[in-house]
Amino acid sequence: MNNPNSPRSNTDWSPQSWRDRVALQQPQWPDADTHRQVLDQLSALPPLVFAGEARELTEQLAAVAEGRAFLLQAGDCAESFDTSADSIRDRLRVILQMAVILTYYTGVPVVKVGRIAGQFAKPRSSDTETVDGVELPSFRGHIVNDIGFTADERAANPKRLLLAYNRAAATLNLLRAFTKGGFASLSRVHQWNREFVADSPAGQRYENLADEIDRAVQFMSACGVSSDTLADLRQVDFYTSHEALLLDYEEALTRSDSLTDDWYDCSAHMLWIGERARQLDGAHVEFLRGVGNPLGCKLGPGATVDDVLALCRTLNPDDVAGRLTLVTRMGANRIVDDLPPLLDAVKTAGHPVVWACDPMHGNTFTADDGRKTRHFDDVLAEVSGFFAAHRFSGTHPGGVHLELTGDDVTECLGGGASVETADLGSRYETMCDPRLNGSQSLDLAFRLAELLRNGTR
Ligand code: PEP
Ligand code: CO
Repeated sequence: MNNPNSPRSNTDWSPQSWRDRVALQQPQWPDADTHRQVLDQLSALPPLVFAGEARELTEQLAAVAEGRAFLLQAGDCAESFDTSADSIRDRLRVILQMAVILTYYTGVPVVKVGRIAGQFAKPRSSDTETVDGVELPSFRGHIVNDIGFTADERAANPKRLLLAYNRAAATLNLLRAFTKGGFASLSRVHQWNREFVADSPAGQRYENLADEIDRAVQFMSACGVSSDTLADLRQVDFYTSHEALLLDYEEALTRSDSLTDDWYDCSAHMLWIGERARQLDGAHVEFLRGVGNPLGCKLGPGATVDDVLALCRTLNPDDVAGRLTLVTRMGANRIVDDLPPLLDAVKTAGHPVVWACDPMHGNTFTADDGRKTRHFDDVLAEVSGFFAAHRFSGTHPGGVHLELTGDDVTECLGGGASVETADLGSRYETMCDPRLNGSQSLDLAFRLAELLRNGTR
């Protein structure tokens, strides 16, 4: 059987064809034999996700592209192998809480995609890092090396590829249990939102918004529709995603689907190409154009109309709605000028993309204490500019792409329970970029609700 929408139908692609292209951001593995053995082992292990699930996500993203659903993609910048079960649970919880708020105010389903269960590899601007005159390889994520600053810890270790697979499997198993086992029921998630509003100074200003959701839940319940009576309110669909950075790992998990004969990268439901790896003739674009999963591609402030149109043609030649999500990360200052020409060009060319806003990566700066941070107000300003740009262009603002954690960290500044520069040091735990904490994330969801309510969408 050959799917006419298959990305493979128009190419001479293979899971290895990326090897003929320049692959940026790949580690130098010191031990070629072990590396080869590990890849062979990975190729023989079960897929982490099924092709059918990836197709289902494509369909849900097609609804996003048409303005009939909203995308919430969120999670860690770099997941750690040491993340506790509680921390995974709390991350899921905050995403579910945000989704309920956004569902109510957008009036459409929210497609939930975690940066989770595989987000272990990081692109770096420099191969090495120098501290007090000592130069060592940069930290490239737990799938490659460790964050400690010793030669041993920073050495790339191919066995970490297997650890990453096992860690992703365990995380995914927990997520599947939580999302299908009652933890995610609407009444429960709404109750957590009530607690946020009642118990935190950050939440109090949203009392009216939360009351409205309360009344909607009560109304549904009075009509006989509640988590007790309807399975759909007890379970949620939750998908996984990560940057497809280490191509040998992704290749080893790429399998031919027995139903359609198409290739799927079974390491996650959705995979994206980072801003540093989206060269049209590069290995990452070559690899991802051939797998059937829904894809993301980051677009920074330098992205030109020509770049974007060429990426659409290469990554989604058959113009399948939901196949390609363009994730803009321009920075709050640039989005209003830089985004509209891209929106207009893609619209004119008729590519059915999802537009998502990553308001994190264009707004990073170094605080006075030397830590990398972002300000809540810049994050909000970029999303607000994103909504405005879409309004001007008559296109759909499909969703947001965020770095967050449910943990009570102090990595981003501002938000309702204001984090100040002096607070950054107290719980700065990220291994890479600063994340919104649980309270800042809910605060942002309510702010988005206000923007959506005021017709800014
Ligand atoms: C990221 O998403 O963590 C990241 C590195 O983003 P970008 O590719 O947009 O810089
Ligand atoms: Co990041």
